[in-house]
Amino acid sequence: MIDPWASFDLDYDKLVNQFGIKKFSDVLDTIEDPLPLMERGVIFGHRDFDKIVPLVNNKKDFAVMTGMMPSGQMHIGHKMVIDQLKWYFKKGGQLSLAIADMESYAARNMSFEEGKRIAIEEYLANYIALGLDLTDDNINVYLQSQNRTLNELTYKIAKRVNFNNLNAIYGFDKSTNLAHLYAPLIQVADILLPQTEEYGGPKQVIVPVGIDQDPHLRLTRDIAAKLSEEFGFIAPASTYHRFLTGLTGDKMSSSKPKTAIYLNDTPKKAEKKVKSAKTGGRESLEEQKELGGQPDTCVIYEMLVYHLVDDDEELNKIREECLNGTLLCGHCKVHTAELMKDFFEDLHTKKEESLEIAKSLFD
Ligand code: TRP
Ligand code: SF4
Repeated sequence: MIDPWASFDLDYDKLVNQFGIKKFSDVLDTIEDPLPLMERGVIFGHRDFDKIVPLVNNKKDFAVMTGMMPSGQMHIGHKMVIDQLKWYFKKGGQLSLAIADMESYAARNMSFEEGKRIAIEEYLANYIALGLDLTDDNINVYLQSQNRTLNELTYKIAKRVNFNNLNAIYGFDKSTNLAHLYAPLIQVADILLPQTEEYGGPKQVIVPVGIDQDPHLRLTRDIAAKLSEEFGFIAPASTYHRFLTGLTGDKMSSSKPKTAIYLNDTPKKAEKKVKSAKTGGRESLEEQKELGGQPDTCVIYEMLVYHLVDDDEELNKIREECLNGTLLCGHCKVHTAELMKDFFEDLHTKKEESLEIAKSLFD
């Protein structure tokens, strides 16, 4: 069982086999101009992505949706979702962005006021600073608690679900409070919302998420089938990306400061954190020169792959030189830290203005 509200260890191959998620590499060749995250295997799995491919290639008639639970700070790993949203938006997708203030009320004890503040100041400001123009007419950002259509839809969804269903998917038991039981139903509604009349009627929707969110997608696909006659809903497609490894070698997590580079860190701090990260280097210089480094277990290399190097040739060169022992970790770290610092400097020049825009979205 995958519990979306807990942390767990990951074996991506097992997940693909066990839950009927398909390998992303099977559809990769059919996508025109794919995102580097797709080509590099960071996005490793999907459901029904083959239905999205022609729409993306023709730039029409689909929506992309995702949601954020406002709790804690954003870290560099979250950038992955934004990169994907930008790509789909460029491909003509209509974008729907849920701020899950009801979920964080139920699962994280966050008040609606605090949830809204964090969503705006922390999440939306960063989304904008990272290049997503949330003021565009084709983008709908909403707070769960304030969207009437969403809440009406949630109620209709609730009628199609019983306790046994939720127990089987999430392991909820008789002591789970009812707001928490209701949270996944709201998320199902988030995912189906772009297909309601108000948002243009039934259409293909793609939901890019981390694997922890898959239980919600399975539930949504079930319910879409149950409601297809009444609303014409089509089962949503989804993709799954790997989580970024933290600086210590464990998963990067907002609640574990030692593992994370926060988007609010100063450029200097981000640079310093990169230099502190675990590498795939060998015990001694001699050994490294002889055996080469291990990029596939290196946090530094992962940062280059996920976030810092767009050019494949440049990346391959680093990989080669690491493997053959000509590139040494000290040098490689300094270079990577420099790239990270540049990225953060750029982000920070945009922060203030982005914050003003984010605030104005809910005036
Ligand atoms: N549950 C998600 C999280 O924990 C947030 C979320 C709410 C979401 N609605 C969504 C994600 C719809 C994807 C699609 O971050
Ligand atoms: Fe990682 Fe770079 Fe060292 Fe290779 S040389 S193990 S990529 S830090």
